[in-house]
Amino acid sequence: MDDFETAIAEYYRLGPERDRLSTWGYLEALRTADLLGRHLPPAPGVVYDIGGAEGAYALPLARDGYAVHLVDAWEPHVAAAAEASAAQPAAPLASCAVGDARDLSFEDSTADAVLLLGPLYHLLERADRLRALREAHRVLKPGGVLLAAAVSRYASTFDGVAVGDIGDEDFQELVEGVLDDGLHRNTDPGEHPRWFTLTYFHRPSDLRDEVADAGFRAIELVAVESAAAWATDTRRLADPGHRDAVLKAIRRVESVPELLGASPHLMAVARKSH
Ligand SMILES: C[S@@+](CC[C@H](N)C(=O)[O-])C[C@H]1O[C@@H](n2cnc3c(N)ncnc32)[C@H](O)[C@@H]1O
Repeated sequence: MDDFETAIAEYYRLGPERDRLSTWGYLEALRTADLLGRHLPPAPGVVYDIGGAEGAYALPLARDGYAVHLVDAWEPHVAAAAEASAAQPAAPLASCAVGDARDLSFEDSTADAVLLLGPLYHLLERADRLRALREAHRVLKPGGVLLAAAVSRYASTFDGVAVGDIGDEDFQELVEGVLDDGLHRNTDPGEHPRWFTLTYFHRPSDLRDEVADAGFRAIELVAVESAAAWATDTRRLADPGHRDAVLKAIRRVESVPELLGASPHLMAVARKSH
């Protein structure tokens, strides 16, 4: 994939995926697992995890009894997922391959669920995001469910305030650019690894429109971490009582339209018509 020869590959070469979801992305991981648990049809079923990286969600879903096929554009992620799959021989991934969300090799109407938890923010052009969403629609069975994640247009504004980078002139330029047209132009992640990479940040309405334009119906938009992300002490989530209370609080407000954009990540949950 051409894009992976540039800033995106440079970012992933830094190895950020390995520990992300158990450290600063822990709330994202907990909430994503919660959303998958509530929206996936019961196991067994066929799940295509497109942009599945090292298998953070695919591997547990395989252990839960789903036939999970992982696809990712970045070969080292696929190799790591294959290794982790081999390490759970009782519940390996059904398949694991390098591929592009815009051009899937699966047959039409073969999946009960498609996860697009990554490609939509890495695809910078709307036409490419629509191709990925239309491919997800094509491979889903009628009635199948799509879970598609996006980064919110306003994530870098609040993240900059939370971690203190907002006073940095280069960071401010990135924020102004993204507020203007959605492109987060960190073209040199080697220099600024904490600032992610060249990506597209959605307004909630953009995400809804793109998913609808790809042919999906019954579209629900939810906040993944909601504004709670900016007030959460990740270390306290190790306490089960506190963790459950936080998850319950976020669940109550996850669909409030006025709050969606304040969440770092958004999720579209949508169905292919029967
Ligand atoms: C930040 S990681 C997210 C991994 C995991 N799905 C999660 O939600 O934690 C984004 C992943 O999407 C993959 N990706 C980006 N664009 C893609 C595309 N067009 N087709 C397939 N994979 C893609 C990247 O290689 C990367 O592994």
